[in-house]
Amino acid sequence: MVQQYAAAAGAGTSAERYADLHRALAGLLAGERDLIANTANFAALVYTTLPELNWAGCYFLRGNELVLGPFQGRPACVRIAMGRGVCGTAAARRASVLVPDVHAFDGHIVCDPLSRSELVVPLLKGDTLIGVFDMDSPLPGRFEAADQAGIESAVALLMSACRS
Ligand code: SME
Repeated sequence: MVQQYAAAAGAGTSAERYADLHRALAGLLAGERDLIANTANFAALVYTTLPELNWAGCYFLRGNELVLGPFQGRPACVRIAMGRGVCGTAAARRASVLVPDVHAFDGHIVCDPLSRSELVVPLLKGDTLIGVFDMDSPLPGRFEAADQAGIESAVALLMSACRS
């Protein structure tokens, strides 16, 4: 199974890459409903199979702030207020935020100075906001509409598999 995950790494078109990611994710989620276990494996799958990332992981909504959850990459800021930074903005809007240049995003929160672009997708279970999934890249303009669509559908699969 591990080889199956490696097959998604970097190869092929963006569409093929996300089709591989979705297949691998469906395999990881099969028979497991735990939110922490599944988001931990999701962060690891994304981080190890998509190219040019320096961070991938979750923040969970706790009261009116986001608190760090399972992730891969360097240690990160633990708490983010609703509406603050890219993560808090995506959470407040309940919509994905794609930032081609983090230096041009007013209020971007620097966790790793190497990060140059970012994509944050809300974790929604029905109408309930669970948190956000955040990806960072050291490359400016790393994320495109195809990445947003691919991660949004992967997150929908992830959320539908988890007990909240
Ligand atoms: N840059 C994010 C903070 C989280 S880290 O990148 C892991 C933000 O502006 O919300």
